[in-house]
Amino acid sequence: MKISVIGCGYLGAVHASAMAELGHEVVGIDVDDAKISALSEGRTPFFEPGLPEVLTSALASGRLRFSTDIAEAAGAEVHFLAVGTPQQKGSYAADLTYVDAAVTALLPHLDAGDLVVGKSTVPVGTAARLAALIAESGSGASLAWNPEFLREGFAVQDTISPDRLVYGVAAGIAGERSVVQLNEIYATAIAAETPLVVTDFATAELVKVAANAFLATKISFINAMSEIAEVSGADVTQLADAIGYDARIGRRFLNAGVGFGGGCLPKDIRAFTARAEELGRGDSVAFLKEVDSINLRRRQRVVDLTVEGLGRPIFNAKVAVLGLSFKPHSDDVRDSPALDVAVQLRGLGADVVATDPQAIENARVRHPQLSYSSDIEETLRGAAAVVLVTEWPVFKSIDPTWAATLVETKTIIDGRNTLNAAEWRAAGWTYYGLGRP
Ligand code: UGA
Repeated sequence: MKISVIGCGYLGAVHASAMAELGHEVVGIDVDDAKISALSEGRTPFFEPGLPEVLTSALASGRLRFSTDIAEAAGAEVHFLAVGTPQQKGSYAADLTYVDAAVTALLPHLDAGDLVVGKSTVPVGTAARLAALIAESGSGASLAWNPEFLREGFAVQDTISPDRLVYGVAAGIAGERSVVQLNEIYATAIAAETPLVVTDFATAELVKVAANAFLATKISFINAMSEIAEVSGADVTQLADAIGYDARIGRRFLNAGVGFGGGCLPKDIRAFTARAEELGRGDSVAFLKEVDSINLRRRQRVVDLTVEGLGRPIFNAKVAVLGLSFKPHSDDVRDSPALDVAVQLRGLGADVVATDPQAIENARVRHPQLSYSSDIEETLRGAAAVVLVTEWPVFKSIDPTWAATLVETKTIIDGRNTLNAAEWRAAGWTYYGLGRP
């Protein structure tokens, strides 16, 4: 099928490349010149494992191209909206400027029978509003909402082999036609018997925010248990293992630590709260504010543990921060707990040196006041405390005996409960975990 993908960020660049790889003819469109030039030359503007390979192969096939000109979308039958919906400044609500701008720009290029497919995460009610806008334009095009569940770090795999497909479609014949078009797009996943939920716009929009709200709640639940473990002497990692054996609970997303961040979970739960309040049901999701608070308190806990563990005034003390991205296998520092901790420690007067396998450049743009090193040895040398805040494999495999020879004081704060505490203690370190004795 001929497809256009509007917005070539983490979501759109992966979607465009993956769809071309699956055999469709794709044009990726973005207003950012630099992004489009990079993608056209086969360079990914961000780190995402597997994307360079898929991008290069799709470009070589001749089925994928990129442009800054929205008019290039003309002629495509299906148009995916993959632009960002960040948190509004000064409010919890989602900023729909980019979604609205994309649809407005697309309208003159739509033909009868075209399908506009929303992938961006939006407040419930947005799809109905956009469908009315498209209908008013008289083009004869329709709208569907097809939320995306990809995880950064696994984005290519999640796009090519999703764990489920959700189509929010219009009622009647238009909706039936949308299902046929989407089934053709996702023919490979459909053939693989991927679970499919065909529903209305509102449900499709809500599925996405409900999924992220649930995941955020699960993480904050275990982090709340972590707080209780801290005042009772229990070990939250063993608690998570033990409750996780109950198949109804499950062990995934029960890793207690410095909490969740990134471009999705934090802003999605806030936008959900704001939208529920607009709908007069703020009380239904009021608990998400607590989920948010628990999450942010964990960052403070890591800072407090570092101050405590230093055993000397923090001013001018060298603190080695391991990790900047919001999670491993990503260079994304949006709302990153790791970067936040580094900034807070620096604000307290520490001489922070931070390292990360992929996120240094993104962190430097936002926080040039921090010192960065791409070398773990240099980061650790002379440190009065070491703080691990992103569980990259390369940090997990640091030999505590080797690291002990580099630092000034053998104090480690494991903000992800990812190190082997016994091994670090045996090598002479004072080990602090979160929610662990
Ligand atoms: C999340 C969802 O997992 C995806 O399904 C969704 O499509 C995506 O948001 C989105 O809305 O686009 P992502 O932001 O890539 O994906 O990251 P996650 O893997 O969900 O991790 C989020 C945060 O939770 C990270 O900071 C991670 O370190 C933290 N986390 C995760 C924990 O603190 N503990 C855990 O047990 C798991």
